[in-house]
Amino acid sequence: MGFPAMRALAISALALQGACLAIDRDAAPTIEARASWTYLGCYTDNVSGRALPNGEQVPGGTNAMANELCQSTCQADGFTLAGTEYAGECWCGNAIGNGGALSTNPSSLCTMTCKGNAAETCGGPNGLSVYQYGSSSPPTSGTGKRGLAYNNNNPTANAEYANLFAGYSSVSWGYDWGYPSYNLNPSFEFVPMLWGLPSGSDPGWTAAVQTVGTKNILGFNEPDLTYSGSSNILPANAAAGYATYMEPFAGTVKIGMPNVLWNNVGSSSGGNYDSAVWTQYFLGNCTGCHFDFAAIHYYQDCDPADGQSGAAWFQGNVTNAYNTLHLPIWITEFQCYGTDAQQVAFLQTVLPWLDAQSYVARYAYFGVFPDYLVNSAGTGLSDIGMAYATT
Ligand SMILES: *[C@@H]1O[C@H](CO)[C@@H](O)[C@H](O)[C@H]1NC(C)=O
Ligand SMILES: *[C@@H]1O[C@H](CO)[C@@H](O)[C@H](O)[C@H]1NC(C)=O
Ligand SMILES: *[C@@H]1O[C@H](CO)[C@@H](O)[C@H](O)[C@H]1NC(C)=O
Repeated sequence: MGFPAMRALAISALALQGACLAIDRDAAPTIEARASWTYLGCYTDNVSGRALPNGEQVPGGTNAMANELCQSTCQADGFTLAGTEYAGECWCGNAIGNGGALSTNPSSLCTMTCKGNAAETCGGPNGLSVYQYGSSSPPTSGTGKRGLAYNNNNPTANAEYANLFAGYSSVSWGYDWGYPSYNLNPSFEFVPMLWGLPSGSDPGWTAAVQTVGTKNILGFNEPDLTYSGSSNILPANAAAGYATYMEPFAGTVKIGMPNVLWNNVGSSSGGNYDSAVWTQYFLGNCTGCHFDFAAIHYYQDCDPADGQSGAAWFQGNVTNAYNTLHLPIWITEFQCYGTDAQQVAFLQTVLPWLDAQSYVARYAYFGVFPDYLVNSAGTGLSDIGMAYATT
């Protein structure tokens, strides 16, 4: 479960989108914000720690600088915030950092006309003229345990489906079976995952873990299974992988155990193990490893044919994982199989229960895709998504 194979396709779509974004040189000089961009205000900036971290070259260089040009450049690179400064600089990011704050005195801070358009203001020596893509006020961060399992396989090759959940207070985090976040709304915590075993040194993974704002990291995706959507790794090899790629970050971020299908019986990772046995062997091999939480998956019928309760089975498995592993539990994928109405009823039963269990730290229902938590058109939440966001 999870769609890592689609990611390569989506990356090339993003590059294409960037190349097609034309610069609107004919725009009337008084128009400072491109369509879908709104002015947030003049922000203080700090040369030793930038309010927006990514300095960008714009087409035509410093002398062509105008706010729209900075916006289109930031947008093509997948950012939601664009800021101009010192008449000719363009800075991009997804959140204001390093203590940058809305100025109480913009007329003395953002004082310089843009080098490419004298009718516009492009910040000042220490002031940033900031514009935001999308909604005019940033959504407030959620605080709940609920998360978004999403990917960038959509028309904008971005986190756009996950971002439909921005502003729901129960939803606080997201992951995409890998990294980067593909522009997940900054009101969510992005949690990078090391999906499978790298073949050598992996500076991209290190950079993802060390990205400002990373607090938690997820390890291998279903190493206990053998099908194509799983990472299929023998316990001893997975343990060696953890020692190399996860353990160095112990103490700086919270480390999750491998994501295993907890209710799986009889599948194999070349060794014909149940997932519980795979986990036992993994722990047996990972002797020096530090874990902050365990990560499990669960898939089963909403209403089993024999009249048993799908919700009770799910709760039984979550409880059993905690009693076995004695770590906070993240359920990084779960879904019950059934009609939309059956899934809604299941969520209405299990979500309050999950929120009430102190040992359940986080969870993510599968998944943030059209016809799952998102409607068929990809334009809003489905009934299941609405139940997930609001129960
Ligand atoms: C400027 O940024 C640096 C680096 O993040 C930080 O140490 C310093 O406190 C900041 N200064 C102000 C005035 O916010
Ligand atoms: C280590 O993992 C291997 C399978 O990869 C298993 O055969 C062995 O028993 C494990 N060792 C321990 C101490 O659990
Ligand atoms: C876990 O789920 C399975 C269904 O996949 C069920 O048969 C089993 O009883 C559940 N375990 C517990 C401890 O409830």
